[in-house]
Amino acid sequence: MSQTTTVQSQASMAGFRTPEQEQAARGRGVAPAHELALEDINPLNAHLFRENRWHGYFERLRREDPVHLNEIETAGRYWSVVKYDDIKAVSSDWETFSSAEGITLGFRVGSDAPNMMQLGSRPPFISQDPPTQTEQRKTVRPAVAPRNLAKLEPLIRERTVQVLDALPAGETFDWVDRVSIELTTLMLATLFDFPLEDRRKLTRWSDVVFAIPEPGGVVESGEQKRAELIECLQYFSQLWDDRRRKPGDDLISMLAHGEATRDMSAAEHLGNVLLLIVGGNDTTRNTMSGSVYSLTHRFPEQFEKLVANPGLMRNMVSEVIRWQTPLSYMRRTATRDCELRGRPIRKHDQLLMWYVSANRDEDVFANGDVLDIERPNASRHLSFGYGIHFCMGSRLAELQLRVLWEEILSRFERIEVQEEPSRTFSSFVNGYTRLPVVIRRK
Ligand code: HEM
Repeated sequence: MSQTTTVQSQASMAGFRTPEQEQAARGRGVAPAHELALEDINPLNAHLFRENRWHGYFERLRREDPVHLNEIETAGRYWSVVKYDDIKAVSSDWETFSSAEGITLGFRVGSDAPNMMQLGSRPPFISQDPPTQTEQRKTVRPAVAPRNLAKLEPLIRERTVQVLDALPAGETFDWVDRVSIELTTLMLATLFDFPLEDRRKLTRWSDVVFAIPEPGGVVESGEQKRAELIECLQYFSQLWDDRRRKPGDDLISMLAHGEATRDMSAAEHLGNVLLLIVGGNDTTRNTMSGSVYSLTHRFPEQFEKLVANPGLMRNMVSEVIRWQTPLSYMRRTATRDCELRGRPIRKHDQLLMWYVSANRDEDVFANGDVLDIERPNASRHLSFGYGIHFCMGSRLAELQLRVLWEEILSRFERIEVQEEPSRTFSSFVNGYTRLPVVIRRK
């Protein structure tokens, strides 16, 4: 959740179109990349992702215009950075390329569009620069540090086994709902010590945060989005008060008592709470779905390889995270005039670091569209970002995926995908809304 996200809900309420809505409305039926003039290429188009047609766009930009400028009325100038090394360079220089203006495309700084935080929240630490980011990250880091993960592994395994054992054999069900959502939501509820019976609220809030309001969509209007986020705030305010009085070793208690964060109110904390919900939910969930889709359907020979050699498990996990790239991009904002690959970046310009493209950069990954669980450099992917904001939950996500696949291999002969998945309507969250499968037990 970024400041921008909140701005987006405000914008919808005020009758503005958010940049992504504008792109989405324009983008329906957009031509393949090779039919467009270079200046008409704009990869920030939710339709390209829902229709899984983004590959050609980035391939062309990598070849012809690796630091590519677009300008739209509501968001101003933004650059698409699509090469691996350039993204590393931008991520490494947080003083020039700041996170403090938000991590998804947003309104132009200084524009008339509303830009105050809604609901009284402060930006989460993913949308902050040092020193605030450093201090707040330190506060919650113990929850996902290796020692705590070693303690969590048996519980993750137990829950994974329960979920897999409850699946119906031989009949079609939705893997996204029954497995990916269920497992990541259970994990998140554990990290927050959140009432298990209410855990689907976490899933819902996670979906709502980045949803583009549209008829029949996750949310129908900006008003609805705001109302649901207020409900989330109220729920967490209650938890916050409880943990202030009676701390445990969960994430809410860590935030409520941490030196850098204890003076913040529950409302001010909503940003960090939503960051942890989205960070820990959408991403791992979509990698779980992507792993089944890619390994068992798109590249079934890789599944056979894994069955024959389970020693490939860890590399498979990295490769699936590369191939899926569950967050397509993160944004930075230039704090001064500068150059990138000779292109003139102006102060206040936004830069979108397209991880989906870096992870298919021909200079680093041969045949990047192909899943290859023996790929020697799979773990060099940029799906977790790079530099000071490098994903805090990366080890937890890898652990969940490894445990899931260990338990899948020990009980299922096959997983058969029944039809192509439905995909998320977003150029930020690169994921799946439905994946019908049939499982065959051993
Ligand atoms: C496959 C799963 C995941 C992916 C692909 C992913 C991706 C990312 C990326 C790209 C960033 C960097 C943002 C930037 O540079 O601006 C990030 C940061 C972060 N992630 Fe993850 N994430 C995943 C899982 C998780 C999990 C399970 C958690 C929580 C328990 C989590 C919590 C965070 C947090 C708190 C940050 C902010 C770190 C900071 O700003 O210092 N993530 N993640």
